[in-house]
Amino acid sequence: MALRLGDDAPNFTAVTTQGTIHFHEWLGNSWGVLFSHPKDFTPVCTTELGYVARIKPEFDRRNVKVIGLSVDPVDSHVKWEHDIEETQGTAVNFPMIGDPDRAVSTLYDMIHPNANDSLTVRSVFVIGPDKKVKLMITYPASTGRNFDEILRVIDSLQLTAQYKVATPANWRDGDDVIIGAAVSDEDATTLFPQGWTTVKPYLRVLKQPNR
Ligand code: BEZ
Repeated sequence: MALRLGDDAPNFTAVTTQGTIHFHEWLGNSWGVLFSHPKDFTPVCTTELGYVARIKPEFDRRNVKVIGLSVDPVDSHVKWEHDIEETQGTAVNFPMIGDPDRAVSTLYDMIHPNANDSLTVRSVFVIGPDKKVKLMITYPASTGRNFDEILRVIDSLQLTAQYKVATPANWRDGDDVIIGAAVSDEDATTLFPQGWTTVKPYLRVLKQPNR
């Protein structure tokens, strides 16, 4: 059955470019981003992996481990990594899973047969330290992903895990936030003594609490 938000992120053992990993053990207490690309030695994927390598310090800063995957084997990934470094200017600095038997792709429903019956689509999963799936996005093979958006969502997930708030459209770290709908005004007075602005009874805006 397909994965849904809040489900346990399936555990697996896999061979990667940085050795064999047991996924949950590898994640430890970190957040995780697991993302698939359709195939090695393809142009869009080359730019994506180079970009993720370049912004890896942003994932590190947020205590997020990043791991890629395609249905090609690890020896192919390793050869391709030379091209990625040469063309994108950054060496791949995170593991990539080789999944020729599609074991992990199947666990995470990364092969969508009506798009392509043998290649993984561009899936992204964000996994929390509790090993639950927090975000899933699926892109078509022809569209490179916006990894800055993934960082933005991680900022929101980490903030909303800590405070009873939600983040509005196009929110970025530091912008005003919204008091969660389930929080009464009475409870909000205790939770947010700094106060808030009531735009409508259901739309209460406040400064980002940890700023
Ligand atoms: C690419 O990464 O460029 C790509 C991969 C598979 C299908 C189409 C494009």
